[in-house]
Amino acid sequence: MINNLLTLQDSQPEYYTADIIKGLVLIMLLAGTRTLSTSLEWAVCNLMNHPAAVKKAREELDTQIARDHLVDESDISKLPYLQSIIFESSRLYPVAPLLAPHLSSTDSTIGGYNVPVGTILFANAWAIHRDPTLWNDLTSFKPERFENWKSKGYTHMPFGGGRRACPGEGLA
Ligand code: HEM
Repeated sequence: MINNLLTLQDSQPEYYTADIIKGLVLIMLLAGTRTLSTSLEWAVCNLMNHPAAVKKAREELDTQIARDHLVDESDISKLPYLQSIIFESSRLYPVAPLLAPHLSSTDSTIGGYNVPVGTILFANAWAIHRDPTLWNDLTSFKPERFENWKSKGYTHMPFGGGRRACPGEGLA
């Protein structure tokens, strides 16, 4: 990434200043480290409290992954239950409960409210993830709810949504 940015600096030095490059590197480090470690901590905490989920995840791993290698990114599609554990953990404990502050660049209407230009808006993902009109038995840790789950709009959004959603979601 730094190599690409330095190449861009050669062609557009007025934009790709050292400060801009430092800022891009810094945001990647900040946005991509604590979020991941906290997500893992929550997932492990949830598993420690739900041995039945551990058993099911272990059975899936034993069936899908050969014993002679570690799980790799390419294996993820074969591990839907493990995916469901991550989804459920991030539903109950999103690591950025209010996402990042959003600043409206034009007057707009959100959920029937008029939001003037220049308003700082927080989206409460934590509350959306526990909205009783969207989720059943909403405080329970139930990875099964994500089996065959199809996203319906902004109901599960640990990575935000729309144009400013987390660009690191695939990596994460
Ligand atoms: C489990 C891991 C992660 C979670 C839960 C997470 C979550 C989020 C959330 C909630 C936002 C704000 C979105 C919004 O306000 O709508 C965000 C923004 C961002 N994330 Fe992540 N993130 C994760 C990992 C990563 C990784 C690995 C990277 C890159 C290496 C990354 C880079 C960014 C950047 C650059 C932004 C700002 C995007 C913008 O404002 O346009 N994130 N992330």
